[in-house]
Amino acid sequence: MGLTQPNIELHTANAFGQSRPFHVTRLESKYPVSRVPKSQALYSRALQLIPGGTQLVSRRPSRYAAGVSPAYFARAKGARFWDVDGHEYIDWVSGIGAIILGYCDEVVDDAVREQISRGTMTSVNHELEIELAEELCRTISCAEMVRYAKCGGEACAVAVRIARGVTGRDKILFCGYHGWHDWYLAANLAEEASLNAHLFPGIEPIGVPAALKGTAIPFPYGDLTTLATLLDDHRGEVAAIIMEPLRSELPPEGYLAGVRKLCDERGVVLIFDEVSSGFRTRLGGVQELVGVTPDMAVFAKAISNGYPMAAVVGKRAVMEPSGRMFISSTYWSDTIGLRAALTTIQELRRRNVPAQLEKVGNEIIRRMNEVAAKTGLPVKCGGLPTHPLLAFQTDNPATKAKLTTLYIQEMAKRGCHGYAAFYLNAAQSSAEVEQTAAAAQEVFGLMKVGLDSNRLDELLECEPAQDAFRRLVR
Ligand SMILES: Cc1ncc(COP(=O)(O)O)c(C=O)c1O
Repeated sequence: MGLTQPNIELHTANAFGQSRPFHVTRLESKYPVSRVPKSQALYSRALQLIPGGTQLVSRRPSRYAAGVSPAYFARAKGARFWDVDGHEYIDWVSGIGAIILGYCDEVVDDAVREQISRGTMTSVNHELEIELAEELCRTISCAEMVRYAKCGGEACAVAVRIARGVTGRDKILFCGYHGWHDWYLAANLAEEASLNAHLFPGIEPIGVPAALKGTAIPFPYGDLTTLATLLDDHRGEVAAIIMEPLRSELPPEGYLAGVRKLCDERGVVLIFDEVSSGFRTRLGGVQELVGVTPDMAVFAKAISNGYPMAAVVGKRAVMEPSGRMFISSTYWSDTIGLRAALTTIQELRRRNVPAQLEKVGNEIIRRMNEVAAKTGLPVKCGGLPTHPLLAFQTDNPATKAKLTTLYIQEMAKRGCHGYAAFYLNAAQSSAEVEQTAAAAQEVFGLMKVGLDSNRLDELLECEPAQDAFRRLVR
């Protein structure tokens, strides 16, 4: 039984008698031979028990080369993981951005193990909560006070609640991806389903209260005029602008300073969502890189090298009033996340990790472009050194999807797990870059032949990967 998953639509009555279309996954394939049968068997089991199969959309096999690339790992170390079928991979996705030092980093893991032996939590607080807050305030320019959470989306929801509470306004203007919570998906209650053009199509705001319609409004990255117009249209109603300050390219000159100015003029709280960008370009985040200080910022993922942890940091004037708001959860102060985050930040500083990521990222960009030139495949590697991107040069979206999937498929066969973007971590070195460039030499060559002879379909051993997050924030 294969793992490729054409969606079929069923109309099913739920327990409340409402009939709704449900997308389910059919486990049949025109590609009978699997390279990863154990991964497939596990995913089939998961689909019986776990709606949607995985907890994170980005871990669905359909995002990669389903049936060829791995879906389940057995163990990981440094820059690599081993799948349940026994294959070894360099992981160029770095735990979807949660890994920055490398898998099973000995310093962080030893610190966590020691902390576990002293107790992960009790009925009272632990000093680590204050120590980490002090470290964050030393490291991040907007940080004067700190709250914690466990994941990025949750921390964004906390930041939005604080901004609404402190301004007494309801509306949020946003740019980028900010998680799964109601405040954000409310954008798709609008007739034109705002997230379709903004992020990726097809997110139905099922279960999001209709009453939230009109409370979350996207704005395009890099366009100050449209943002100013939106602020005028909703004058006196906007609590916050929350945005990814960058993703894989530098912002246009003066853009973030312009956003800052608009917020100052209108009394709007500016929140940088640094869940994916944080700690990678600079220890103090993108705000240090571009010299623009928001009122609040959200960090998660890389903050703790794979242990659940997130932080909402901000200026005292915005954060202090939140002491009166009901924002409270049992596990936000567990000592594992606190210890992991504190140790990770100290190690990032000690090992000067942002500079190392930049060096390895520049090597990737250079080597992939060399390989592209040698093989003649129309592909360019660009983006920020800390987040390189492969762009296949075709105007045909179907061809682009096939090329991307073929790349994922053939690189997986050669021990490189990833997609067309690279998330770096400090365990990756020139050795990983060279192994990847050698694999790409063969893969790009094969793709070029497939493209020139119009035989991409024959080379594909799976359905084209479903569109990864399409972000306006580059
Ligand atoms: C910028 C940004 N914000 C929020 C999130 C949500 O984080 P999490 O998946 O930890 O809830 C992500 C995850 O990719 C992200 O990239």
